[in-house]
Amino acid sequence: MIPLKIVRAEAIAAGIQLFELRDPSGGALPEFSAGAHLTLRTPGGLLRKYSLCNDPADKDNYVIAVKRDPAGRGGSVDLVDHVKAGDALEVSPPENAFPLSPGVKNFIFIAGGIGITPIMAMIRHLASSGLAGFKLYYLTRDAASTAFLDELAAPEWRSKVTIHHDGGDPARILDLWPVLEKPGPAHVYCCGPRPLMDAVRDMTGHWPRSQIHFESFADAEQTRLADNKPFRLRLARSNAVLEVDSHHSIVQAMRALGYETPTSCESGTCGTCRTVLLQGEAEHRDLVLTPEEQAGQIMICVSRSRSPELVIDR
Ligand code: FES
Repeated sequence: MIPLKIVRAEAIAAGIQLFELRDPSGGALPEFSAGAHLTLRTPGGLLRKYSLCNDPADKDNYVIAVKRDPAGRGGSVDLVDHVKAGDALEVSPPENAFPLSPGVKNFIFIAGGIGITPIMAMIRHLASSGLAGFKLYYLTRDAASTAFLDELAAPEWRSKVTIHHDGGDPARILDLWPVLEKPGPAHVYCCGPRPLMDAVRDMTGHWPRSQIHFESFADAEQTRLADNKPFRLRLARSNAVLEVDSHHSIVQAMRALGYETPTSCESGTCGTCRTVLLQGEAEHRDLVLTPEEQAGQIMICVSRSRSPELVIDR
């Protein structure tokens, strides 16, 4: 972790706070690519991941936007309520589990709410580098809750950006089917709440899978925590048995006992933790596996069990 200084902390929409971080001595920071995130330690000691939303061409600052979520696990509230300009925060070097595919000439970005943050870095990168064209569909409740609204509503973005407010009414959600009906050479990047990502996944079932990319902005464990049930996990190679309680993922339960479990996104979107499922009925919560793959594989960072026991090839 590296200690950085908050040089800007300001509200940019209802409940959304922007933080700009710099090296205290003004030096260059570790480089990042569009779609990358930081892990930072909140004042209360919680580790949380936030996507960088500035242009990766910026060498000496990181910018994140945090939505204060009173129903969350405390990280966003701690940051928004207790961090101000001049404070120091410990931050990991950037990592990227949601990178832009190289060589692609056209992108379709779909952002819901605070899911705009990694996509801001992407469109800033593409606009400044001229490497590819894009269209952004940005779905929010209303203007007051729309981060970066002034910037994205500016005339120079008009042909590339569609901002849609639904007022919180499901009947007024933007119909993305005309955008996604005909697969083309574009790659689709979607970040937002689970229902939006599920809808986009359903609407892109006929696209090549390599062209569809998701990132969840919610902490993996926060997702449907209330639905979690404990279960037993058997590791076939060692015949070890672990209890996975309702507050921890399979990955966390394994790590607690010293098992190495490589992960990246920890939100069921990148595919790093793909594991062979040998027995039991999984409750799949990822956006990676196809219905055919779900019978014999599981993403252990987010998915759980419907049966009392799961057996995995580990
Ligand atoms: S770590 Fe990315 S899907 Fe599990």
